[in-house]
Amino acid sequence: MDDDRWRDLIAVARLDRGDVTPALLEGRRLAVYDTPGGIHVTSARCSHGGADLCDGYLDGFRIECPLHQGCFDIRTGEATGRPATRPIRVYACRVVDGIVQIDWT
Ligand code: FES
Repeated sequence: MDDDRWRDLIAVARLDRGDVTPALLEGRRLAVYDTPGGIHVTSARCSHGGADLCDGYLDGFRIECPLHQGCFDIRTGEATGRPATRPIRVYACRVVDGIVQIDWT
């Protein structure tokens, strides 16, 4: 069934509005972004040096890594600022009954 791929991640009410909130799913740390343009979810681990993007600075759809200030587009995962050059993983998400769910396939 198609719905099998969706997993509950975090309640919308627990998100920091306009900022990034950490969440854990099956031991994996994820970054949940609550932007005026919608909710987005990525891996929390920077592809450059492994820093935690949940401690980064969110500006629009851009997350800036707290360690070396590499940047990523949270919609696509694309690295948009050096020294980051490799993308981060992006997870499709939706909100059902006030819960952020992500595609966990
Ligand atoms: S660890 Fe993120 S830019 Fe270096």
